Amino acid sequence: MPEFQPFTMERMMSKFEQDVEYNLSESGVHPVSLAELLADDPEEMNRLLATELNYPHVNGIPELRENIAALYDGAVPENVLVTVGAAEANYITTRTLLSAEDEIVIMLPNYMQIWGIAKNHGYRVKAFHLREENSWAPDLDELDQAVTAKTRLIAVCNPNNPTGRILTEAQMNAIVAVAERVGAWILADEVYRGAERLNGAESPSFYGRYDKVVATGSLSKAYGLPGLRIGWVVGPPDTVDDTWARHEYVTISATMLANKLAALALSPEVRPRLIQRTRDYIRRGYPVLQEWMDNHEDTLHLTPPQAAAIAFIRYQLDINSTAFTERLRKEKSVLIVAGDHFGMDHFVRVSFGLPHDYLIPGLDRIHELIMKLKGVA
Ligand SMILES: Cc1ncc(COP(=O)(O)O)c(C=O)c1O
Repeated sequence: MPEFQPFTMERMMSKFEQDVEYNLSESGVHPVSLAELLADDPEEMNRLLATELNYPHVNGIPELRENIAALYDGAVPENVLVTVGAAEANYITTRTLLSAEDEIVIMLPNYMQIWGIAKNHGYRVKAFHLREENSWAPDLDELDQAVTAKTRLIAVCNPNNPTGRILTEAQMNAIVAVAERVGAWILADEVYRGAERLNGAESPSFYGRYDKVVATGSLSKAYGLPGLRIGWVVGPPDTVDDTWARHEYVTISATMLANKLAALALSPEVRPRLIQRTRDYIRRGYPVLQEWMDNHEDTLHLTPPQAAAIAFIRYQLDINSTAFTERLRKEKSVLIVAGDHFGMDHFVRVSFGLPHDYLIPGLDRIHELIMKLKGVA
């Protein structure tokens, strides 16, 4: 067995995110309260109080699977498995599609979960990159060269964490063409779908472009409901059934209450309100971040994110990104993510989908440390 590789970003966040005064490390927006979720219908609370806290359908209650299927062209409930977050969805999908020694090609930079799973289970890992010099567009030549007859899975994250880049239709189709050339699966982590900053168009899914696609998603980012711990796998029924068989080992099911609240969140009545709320946080927070960036023109550089509540900022300071974020946490009680967690030193990931009275003082404290590092303060 390979030596265990911890998920370093999640380790760092779970150890410190509850203790700092300003947590700017999250990639979703300020979370929805239960009262806000139930706001449309005063009777909803009474219906929930009558809920028997039994196991739900282990693969997700039918109403929830229907609402999830409706988000994907051509999908029906048999294409859907409900999981405990996209974290479980990614884990069991990767374990279903790959055996030891199989080759996986991963888009980088990336939320490094699938990369870590691959290392821990002895898969052969290759990469293709989003290029900063090209506004984080994917290097499709590199992908084409990396993918060979041995490649079993191509893992993408779209919209991307940490860059906020959304692939164009042409780029998505090019990725599909490369997968098709060798019959590889595509695992598309699409948790930021719906969290677009620039316009009302929802990022398209990889699902439905090719028969060997599994898309994963969740309520944690675009819906502001990370505490419900609801995610999903969408794919061909046989493959979904195979992931379900792993799900029984790992969690059995998400909770009954979370299933019910998730079905409500994804109902046609409530869903548009939640998506709009997320976009409002992203669109109101971004100008604050941009103004703050403008005051650091000589030190910080950002390719504006197209989606998600995160900015992947390159900095020109003579300090490693882990050392920088550690000092920020210890000296200023602010948590952000070091580029090191994405294999990219001299970057930091900063969230901005937060109320102004929280975001502004958090950014002010980062400013104070930058000034200190530059010897100005
Ligand atoms: C790309 C990506 N996938 C999956 C996850 C895990 O999300 P969840 O809360 O749905 O388990 C995250 C969380 O940050 C993420 O950024």
